[in-house]
Amino acid sequence: MQSQLASLVLIFCRLICVKIVSSSTIMVVTRFDEDFPQYEYDTTSGTPYKNCGGSESVLKSVEIIPCDLKSGDRCVLDRGTNVTFKMSFLSEKSSKTLQAKIYGIIDYIPVPFPFPQPNACKDIRVSCPIIKGQLYNYSISAPVKSKYPKGSLWIKGELIEDTGNLLVCLKIPVRID
Ligand SMILES: *[C@@H]1O[C@H](CO)[C@@H](O)[C@H](O)[C@H]1NC(C)=O
Ligand SMILES: *[C@@H]1O[C@H](CO)[C@@H](O)[C@H](O)[C@H]1NC(C)=O
Repeated sequence: MQSQLASLVLIFCRLICVKIVSSSTIMVVTRFDEDFPQYEYDTTSGTPYKNCGGSESVLKSVEIIPCDLKSGDRCVLDRGTNVTFKMSFLSEKSSKTLQAKIYGIIDYIPVPFPFPQPNACKDIRVSCPIIKGQLYNYSISAPVKSKYPKGSLWIKGELIEDTGNLLVCLKIPVRID
């Protein structure tokens, strides 16, 4: 009964952009957006992702290495290993600078991830300035630290141009194991 009710609520909330997550004791109201698996899969790498509004570029490829989809729909990142993120995009804007921001979305709240390299110009080929119409490859590696808590979350990455607009915005569903 409770799960039927929950399904009805979820269907309803798809329409009004609000979701009510219910458990036997608490009710939390959140935006549904972070939780629904509305992502797509990169056709070459199979990495799941969601474009979250970088309207000034065209995404060409997204890849997490390794992305073990053993849980079905999330990249499983094993603690104590290194993970590499690669992406290529065609820029539709020019920009002198490029800033990277990474968040972990836990319980619907984006938590900024301490990121040693916010200057994305150092992680793209060809380097800055970003030129409209050109293809860029972005690549970073990071350790999945043993102290990270296990669990599912979205990782959100943004590349921001000199005007402050989002050039690229990506969300990737992962599970830390
Ligand atoms: C992860 O990368 C760092 C820096 O390149 C390296 O020192 C470390 O050994 C790597 N760890 C693993 C588990 O491969
Ligand atoms: C970007 O990556 C693609 C595919 O991996 C490769 O073919 C291309 O040469 C790379 N471009 C640059 C500028 O590194």
